[in-house]
This record gives sequence, structure tokens and C-alpha cells, in this order.
Amino acid sequence: MKSPIAVVVLAAGAGTRMKSRLPKVLHRLANRPMVAHVLANAEALKPSLVVGVVAPGATGVAEAFAPHPTVVQTKPLGTGHAARAALGALKGHDGPVLVVFGDAPLVTTASLRKLVAACRKAGAAVGVLGFVARDPTPYGRLIVQDGELVKIVESRDADATERTVAFSNSGVMCIDGRLIASLLGAIRNDNAKREFYLTDAVRLAREAGRRAIAVAGDEAEFQGINSRAELAAAEQALQQRLRAAAMAGGVTMTDPGTVWLSADTKFGTDVTIGPNVRFGPGVSVGSDTVINAFCDIEGVRIGRGVLVGPFARIRPGSEVADGVHIGNFVELKATRMAKGAKANHLAYLGDSDIGAGSNIGAGTIAVNYDGYGKHRTIIGADVFIGSNSSLVAPLKVGRGANVTAGSVVTEDVPAGALAFGRARQVTKKGRAAALRAKLKDRAAALRKAAAERSGKK
Ligand code: UD1
Ligand code: CA
Repeated sequence: MKSPIAVVVLAAGAGTRMKSRLPKVLHRLANRPMVAHVLANAEALKPSLVVGVVAPGATGVAEAFAPHPTVVQTKPLGTGHAARAALGALKGHDGPVLVVFGDAPLVTTASLRKLVAACRKAGAAVGVLGFVARDPTPYGRLIVQDGELVKIVESRDADATERTVAFSNSGVMCIDGRLIASLLGAIRNDNAKREFYLTDAVRLAREAGRRAIAVAGDEAEFQGINSRAELAAAEQALQQRLRAAAMAGGVTMTDPGTVWLSADTKFGTDVTIGPNVRFGPGVSVGSDTVINAFCDIEGVRIGRGVLVGPFARIRPGSEVADGVHIGNFVELKATRMAKGAKANHLAYLGDSDIGAGSNIGAGTIAVNYDGYGKHRTIIGADVFIGSNSSLVAPLKVGRGANVTAGSVVTEDVPAGALAFGRARQVTKKGRAAALRAKLKDRAAALRKAAAERSGKK
């Protein structure tokens, strides 16, 4: 029987280099707070316990951890000090404890698992995930001798030889739960930054006669986020992963580098996505649906065999059933389109309900806002709305009704009715030539008057 894993997420650091009022770990990647990625990857290990270490008053961060408990690190005195704050919550836990950083959201579950397994196999008291850094300057260096991890030295405390070591600390550490209290308790702040370094646990474990190991991984996973530029780089890396996963799951992307996904975007199989499409949070797309170029889609469940775009915008609270067509320059907001409904060109459908098989003509506007409140437009099945119609909500158009083009519809239209909401056309036979002659004479007279005025000057 494997002993259960506990995870401690350190998320109390100041993050001053972000230059933000928002705590660093709440900055978003793929439309989800950074720390939520860390949590999701840790939760995949099915740990018995996850504890967040947060700064005093950081209610937003504590909320991001929910339903997991958090403890407060009263002062930011270093990573060792932060981990110590979680000891109370770890009481009675004697399995491995993974300590991870809230600002390193790209660390995969597979790497966490690999570290725990390696520690177990080696009987190590402490294990860390390391990587060979292109530029190791910002990192703690892993000093390995004869295959044993001897110590970790932070850049500032390293001597000239240690500084040449490129093998760097990711920050992810696995500590034997039976030793964690004594190891963390022994950490002192006798270093350049006067901080309590978690990394000292390595040296302390060895002084207690126990083993420490380093497990190597890929640098791309271990980049911490300390600035907005690093946030943007992490976003790119995460998008690459999400695109790769979508394609592996059966999604075709014509130009994957221009498709922006959210961590929670879900696809069926044989979905096709054109270039320059953005998926905001809360989107699921059914099988055989095609999303053409330049669409912006958020908060919608899209069915199977749907056609969207190019240049369509779907906003939150919408629902698009199987076989619907949403064409170019069509905007949906909190709108439900039932099976097979179509809005192929230039329309705004807000707070609307479009019945199955109904056709919405080009230039249709659901007039949902009167300056004070929003109102709904409810359209039944098999309705035809002629082009350039304004549907002034609140409004109901019954099943099978027909609204003629250019109508401003202010009264409910019963099922099967034909509604005209426009002035009647007047046609005068043969009168076009007379009108043209009149307009021509008027223009000539105006030109003549202008010429006389300028001649007098
Ligand atoms: C840390 C490691 C370094 C490693 C690097 C990887 C230490 C001493 N150094 O350095 O070896 O190469 O990460 O990115 O561990 N935090 C708290 N409370 C604190 C201080 C930090 O909760 O008092 C949290 C931060 O929110 C952050 C994490 O711990 O999530 C790391 O802190 P940070 O100050 O960024 O450490 P680094 O200097 O990057
Ligand atoms: Ca960092």
C-alpha cells in the first residue's frame, strides 16, 4: 500500500516584479488563475491533502484554493518559512509531501509523479526536480556529487565554481512526511537574503544521515513567473500544449499558432477550426462542427454539425444546438438557437430564443435594451424573419410566423401570422424620367448661382 501524498502550494510571495495590485498567482493563463493550473496538476495525483500558503489578507488567493484549506504566512520570510506555516495542517501525515510553487504553473502531473516515485525508490528524505538552465542566473544550483544531491545554493550565496553549475532547482520538492517538521524546523536564515530557504532541507537531510536526490526534467516546464514578460512566455507555452492536446483528440486546426484556447475548452471529434479564433472560458464544441476564421467565442455550448463564422462573435450565456448556422458578422449574447436555426449574415441576437429551423435574415437586430433594462425576444420554431428587421423586445413571435423585410416589430406576432412593420410602398408609373429632369435642372441652377457669386468677388 502506497502512502498518500500531501501537496503544499506556496503562494504567499510578494511578486513585486509584476507591478500589479493583483497577487501574482492570480494572474491568468489560458483564462484561469496561474495557481489554479498548479492545483489542477497537483489534484491529478489524487493527494490526500492540498494546503495553500497565502499572504495575510489575500482573500482572492484563498478563494482560488477552495475547497482546499489555506494557512497564512504572516511575513514573507522565505520559502522555508512559508512551508513551515503548513506544518500544522500536515500533522499526522507520514507519506511524501510535495512542496510546489504557485508561480510555476507549467509543471506537469507526470513530473510530480516521477519525483515521488524516484524518492520512494531511492528511500530519499528529500528529492527535487531539476533542469539544465540556458541561463541559470535566477535559480538555485543543484550541487551533485557521485549521484547524490549534496546541497542547493542560491545564486547570491554561490561561490565562483558553484556559479558555473547550470543544473538548477525547479522549486518542486518532495519531502518525507515523517521528517518534514524536523527538517523545516532546523532551517536558519544565515544567507545573503536573510531568508529561510526551503532549499536548505537538502543539506539538513544529509546531516541527519539521509539521502537527497535530484530528478532531471525539461526547462520548459519549470520556468517560474516573476514578471509580465514571463507571464506572456508561459501563456505561449501553455497554448502550445492545449493546441497539441486538442489536435491529438481529433481537432483539425489550419493554423494552430493563431488559435487561442482556454484551459476548460472542450471539443468533440472532427471539429475544424480556421485561423485566428479565440475561445474564451466556458466553451464546448460538438463533433463535426466547423469554426471558420476570425471568430470570438465565449461561454457557450455548441452542438454537433454547426457552422460558425467567419467573423462571428458568441458571447456568454448562449446555447447553440445541432446543425445551427451562424454566419459572418453575427453576434449572439445570452441567446439560445435551437436545432437547425440559421442566422447567416449581419445580425445582433441578444437575450433571444430562436426556435428550431427558424431563419433570421441579414441585418436583423434584437432590440434588447431600452437604456434601463434588458428584455427577451422569443421566436418560435420555423419562423422567417425578413432582412433588416428590428425586433423590439420584449417580443414573442409565434411558430411558423413570417415577419416581412424591413419591419420594426413592436407587437407580438401570433403563430402562423404574417407581420408588416413598415410604411406601404407607393409606385408611380413612368415618373422616373420626370424626377431625373427636375433634379438635373436644380443642379444646373445651383452651379450657375455659384459661378455668379465667385465672378462678383
Ligand atoms: C526559488 C528557489 C530557487 C529556485 C527558484 C525556481 C528558494 C530559496 N529558492 O527562488 O532555488 O531555483 O525558486 O523558480 O526556495 N513564497 C512564499 N513565501 C515567501 C517567499 C516565497 O510563499 O516568503 C512563494 C512565492 O509565492 C513563490 C515561491 O514561493 O510562489 C517561490 O518564491 P520566489 O521568491 O519566487 O523564489 P525564487 O527567488 O524564484
Ligand atoms: Ca520565482
